[in-house]
Amino acid sequence: MASTALFFVFLALATMQPQTASSEKETHLKVYWHDVVSGPDPTSVPVAQAATTNTSKTGFGMVVVIDDPLTEGASLNSSRLMGRAQGTYIAAGKDQLALLMNMNFVFTAGKYNGSSIAIMGRNAVFTKVREMAVIGGTGVFRWARGYAQARTHTFDLKTGDATVEYNIFIRH
Ligand SMILES: *[C@@H]1O[C@H](CO)[C@@H](O)[C@H](O)[C@H]1NC(C)=O
Ligand SMILES: *[C@@H]1O[C@H](CO)[C@@H](O)[C@H](O)[C@H]1NC(C)=O
Ligand SMILES: *[C@@H]1O[C@H](CO)[C@@H](O)[C@H](O)[C@H]1NC(C)=O
Repeated sequence: MASTALFFVFLALATMQPQTASSEKETHLKVYWHDVVSGPDPTSVPVAQAATTNTSKTGFGMVVVIDDPLTEGASLNSSRLMGRAQGTYIAAGKDQLALLMNMNFVFTAGKYNGSSIAIMGRNAVFTKVREMAVIGGTGVFRWARGYAQARTHTFDLKTGDATVEYNIFIRH
């Protein structure tokens, strides 16, 4: 008797699923991130730098605050605005241009309207594909974790404006 009961307890425990596994989703989303540094209404503004910062080199020591538009397609002018990338990036590489990105992708349109994801990672901007960590989220992206891959779409050497394609893969 006792061993039969024990067997059923064991069976019940063995078939129990962790709660997160059954409800977890994997989402891939793609947006274009526009760093507008030029013109009268920049979305990317340097706020601090070290006495030794040399922007002709790696810019080491510079801190930039961003509120960059995120669009569905590559064109900033004609593509649908999906949200904003708000946060900072810091030139954290002394000998190589490498940014520390620290930003929230805040969605204001589409099915993710009202939700956000937090991205933090190293962005060596002259590397073809840069991978950064998705460290969390809100709304439909609660409990999110995953990664983002950034690829430069256009970089205007004259103005410094950049458009970067972000592919984001998250479990949440
Ligand atoms: C900044 O770096 C450039 C390129 O290496 C160099 O020509 C320039 O002298 C540096 N400026 C300062 C203030 O060190
Ligand atoms: C986008 O619009 C701005 C302002 O209207 C204009 O200066 C710029 O050339 C346009 N860019 C593109 C790629 O069409
Ligand atoms: C996004 O959600 C807000 C709040 O619910 C709403 O006011 C707004 O119209 C929505 N925007 C779009 C583009 O759907």
